[in-house]
Amino acid sequence: MILDGKAVSAKIIDDLKIELAKKSTKPYLAVILVGDDPASRVYVRNKKKKAEYIGVRADIFEYPANVEESVILEKIDELNDNPEVTAILVQMPLPEHISKEKVICRISPQKDVDCFTPENVGRLTIGMEPYFYPATPQGVLMLLDAYDIPIEGKHAVVIGRSNIVGKPMAQMLLRRNATVTMCHSKTENLEDIIKTADIVVSAVGKKIVRCKMVDKKSVVIDIGIYRDSNGNLTGDVDFEEVEPVVEYITPVPGGVGPMTIASLMYNIVKS
Ligand code: GUN
Repeated sequence: MILDGKAVSAKIIDDLKIELAKKSTKPYLAVILVGDDPASRVYVRNKKKKAEYIGVRADIFEYPANVEESVILEKIDELNDNPEVTAILVQMPLPEHISKEKVICRISPQKDVDCFTPENVGRLTIGMEPYFYPATPQGVLMLLDAYDIPIEGKHAVVIGRSNIVGKPMAQMLLRRNATVTMCHSKTENLEDIIKTADIVVSAVGKKIVRCKMVDKKSVVIDIGIYRDSNGNLTGDVDFEEVEPVVEYITPVPGGVGPMTIASLMYNIVKS
């Protein structure tokens, strides 16, 4: 069965819009965008558009690539102190001369809708409630829950150890009582480990998951998204050969991508 992230996401977003229409106070999303990375521009524009669709005020604060670090840190201070601003998002990547760590640490955890700050990541890790869960892993869990796919006690294999996807994905699966194995670029016998998974979550950016690694009970979640040599959008899973074999699979595009947006909108409404 194909897990329809597009449909589940649309339903979540429309429910958020209805919920927000009933409220007297509205969230306000402030996005900081530095430089002119074309992909970042597209992401930021989409986030603003979707936020406005559900009734959220959203402003993008743009800076040239050579902006001084102190200017960004001061802007974050200003947004932290502005009681109207409920959600702050600093689009990554930042130029080399700006310390990503300093920037992340400066964001108020109560406005950190990405779950980037050490406070929120720490809360996630020690079993406290973070103010917000990270958008992509939360979106994956929302999708599994929408299809009533059990997580507790299952062996989940997470491939990829990035701070914004792989690591929090593993933590969140652990909180749901999965048995979690983390794999990454240095993992030996990756194929054998994937074969032991009930749930495979891949966030790598290259073709990893093939039909010989899965079976009819497998749940396959594809977070990888990139363009192949023909310019087509594709994921980490060989969809054509894996889809007929497994129980559940996410398509690329139309799987985890739209769920990430829905999940971010959920955080912004919560803010
Ligand atoms: N760059 C790539 N993904 C993300 C994300 O989820 N949040 C932010 N702020 N920047 C990103």
